[in-house]
Amino acid sequence: MGEMKLQATQNPLKGEIEVPGDKSISHRAVIFGSLAKGTTKVTHFLDGEDCMRTVNAFKKMGVSIEKQGLTLTINGNGIEALTEPIEPLYFGNSGTTARLMLGLLSGLPLFTTIYGDPSLSKRPMDRVGIPLSIMGASFDGREGGSLLPLSIRGKTLNGINYTLPVKSAQVKSAILLAGLHADGETKVTENTPTRNHTENMLKAFGADLTTDGHTITVTNKNTLSAADVYVPGDISSAAFFLAAAAIIPGSKLTLKNVGLNETRTGIIDVLRAMNADIQIHNEQSGGGELFGDITIAHRKLRSTTIEGEIIPSLIDEIPIIALIATQAEGTTIIRDAEELKVKETDRIAAAADLLSTLGASVEPTDDGMIIHGKTDLTGGKVASYNDHRIAMSAVIASLIAKDEVLLDDVSSIAISYPGFFDDLAEIKSK
Ligand code: S3P
Repeated sequence: MGEMKLQATQNPLKGEIEVPGDKSISHRAVIFGSLAKGTTKVTHFLDGEDCMRTVNAFKKMGVSIEKQGLTLTINGNGIEALTEPIEPLYFGNSGTTARLMLGLLSGLPLFTTIYGDPSLSKRPMDRVGIPLSIMGASFDGREGGSLLPLSIRGKTLNGINYTLPVKSAQVKSAILLAGLHADGETKVTENTPTRNHTENMLKAFGADLTTDGHTITVTNKNTLSAADVYVPGDISSAAFFLAAAAIIPGSKLTLKNVGLNETRTGIIDVLRAMNADIQIHNEQSGGGELFGDITIAHRKLRSTTIEGEIIPSLIDEIPIIALIATQAEGTTIIRDAEELKVKETDRIAAAADLLSTLGASVEPTDDGMIIHGKTDLTGGKVASYNDHRIAMSAVIASLIAKDEVLLDDVSSIAISYPGFFDDLAEIKSK
């Protein structure tokens, strides 16, 4: 696809869409389905590039995974049945694949090499490597084993009692995955709760896992058994259309079957604090995950402050929240979000660059942004930094820009939302 010219329309967005499956849950469904004994059916799977990296990794380790449309059929034979891949495993842009697979591979009697694209090759792996080394893992890679490519000589690990120094569900999940086949108990404590899809799904697959306050304990006692997984819509993908409807006068949208796990719904709380007209209905649950429909209509917005415990529950939404803040009256402050600097790109710098180029008043800080609203957006030439969420934020910004926006590259959008432009066209035409 590459470069794209985006014409401002200012037209209201109307209608109903179902956003693609949740990226975090899709990864985990493939991982646990592959480790379990029996046939796991995954429906409404996200077949974006990132989750397909996880699928391909398990196929290369001998797991039979068939894909028909958005349904996966995984025939797992248990952790012991995984075979040594004959070639290095390529994880593309996917941080979740890299961190979670590191946790798994460290404790298997296999030799593997893993690598990624230029963005993933810059992202810190030592946040996972340090606790895994304490468990006895042995691997090596660039910069003392802190950057990909990494080679892993798997071996039997020991349980650990570890308090996360970073607010990261990927690190928590990597340690829990290692703990599934380590000797003794593995305990992970998080001071700030992060997304808990790993815990929910491990329980659904029959793992010996308990949660007590902020501490999760796992042992190698139970083997996983297959369980069907319905993947709810990804609130991180829905966020782009929630934002569009919130800022474009006359808009009213319903997003169907969106995941509403409270470790992920920070954007809904923020939209409410900003005076958005947002309602949730048809709430249901399955596999430990809540989901439902979200209806949002445009209304005049006001600024807010976003900080502390809420941050992990909206971390991936901060670039699009920053765009919403440019259209809210007053000064919005985002802090405690230093993790943004180690995402697919430095998302503090990238979001501030995008919005400033379009005429907004955004000051990047060490751990967030300060946004002065409300400002009209102009057109301009903007960069996606090869980051799917920055690219989609630019597309939504262009809908309210006064002039044409020239976006350097839209190809990264396929990482998490392959049908993004089709869904946008659908709600633009109503
Ligand atoms: C994810 C956790 C988050 C998030 C990422 C997906 C996951 O990353 O930003 O998009 O699936 O566990 P961190 O764990 O690095 O915060």
